[in-house]
Amino acid sequence: MSPAGPDPWAQWLLRDRGGANAQYEARIEARVAHYVDRVLEALGPEPPRNLLDFGCGSGALGLRALQRWPRAQVVFADPSPALLALAGERAQALGVQERLRLLPLVVDPSGSVGLPELADGAFDAVATRSSLAYVADKPALLAEFLRLLRPGGRLSLGEPVFRDDALAACAQRRALEDIAPPAGVALQQPQLLQLLQRWRSQQFPDTEQELARSPYCNFSERELFAWALQAGFAQVHVELHIDAGPSLAPDWDSFTRHTPHPFARSLRDVLDQDFQPEERALLEGVLRENWERGAMVSVERMAYVRASRP
Ligand SMILES: C[S@@+](CC[C@H](N)C(=O)[O-])C[C@H]1O[C@@H](n2cnc3c(N)ncnc32)[C@H](O)[C@@H]1O
Repeated sequence: MSPAGPDPWAQWLLRDRGGANAQYEARIEARVAHYVDRVLEALGPEPPRNLLDFGCGSGALGLRALQRWPRAQVVFADPSPALLALAGERAQALGVQERLRLLPLVVDPSGSVGLPELADGAFDAVATRSSLAYVADKPALLAEFLRLLRPGGRLSLGEPVFRDDALAACAQRRALEDIAPPAGVALQQPQLLQLLQRWRSQQFPDTEQELARSPYCNFSERELFAWALQAGFAQVHVELHIDAGPSLAPDWDSFTRHTPHPFARSLRDVLDQDFQPEERALLEGVLRENWERGAMVSVERMAYVRASRP
């Protein structure tokens, strides 16, 4: 699974995340604001003067910090030129542009990233939301965050935990393999399960090998905890929040167009590209019927870590 286009993150954050539907996107933005507030609150009662928003995207976290703390200076760092530019425009519209610096990040082909242009101890606080998840070498980046913090400086992050989604996809694939009929026995595998699996495998890794290689699936809150300690952070506190509820999509069409992350394909794309007409009719019919009676539950897992530099 690899993202498409020259700036896949801009395409995902500005279009595919909300299924190209303005109402859906507004609901996601409200949910993101809630996550961002939680990450900022975990920095503690003392307003930071210098904050790094790592993987700032279009500025959800950094802009809220600039509004919340009128004396704070924020460095917005991100590899997407389009998202950095948009964050800058939004800062201008809010009248906070004097207090931010935009920092383009260079991600190496392995997915790792460093911040060599930033001085040791330059920040009171480092915060990030749903960005560390996509970095290949998280222990190295956490060590970099420690370097950037002054003694007593604080780290706060909130990251999605997709590992359970990938484990569920792996378990379902294995179950389908295991129930293959013995040679000579004319038994059909449950077709609906097969179709569900073909869709699911386009959104999350469904083999253990692929899972292990995927930066956004191969960790949970426990690895984040261990890596923060190994990097040298003190007072490390981790919380895992799991919420199950109806999807935020306002209608079936936007549900089928949405993708949970930029490396996933939408249900619509999989139905259009990969399925025969009768397969499509079967899977879409069942899913849509469940969707319409509100039976499709979406589960979100978020790990929050706060820590400080000794
Ligand atoms: C899910 S978005 C989150 C954006 C923002 N933090 C927010 O809360 O809305 C992930 C962001 O991480 C950035 N990103 C992706 N891979 C990265 C990497 N290897 N290093 C740093 N940032 C990365 C993307 O450009 C994108 O803006």
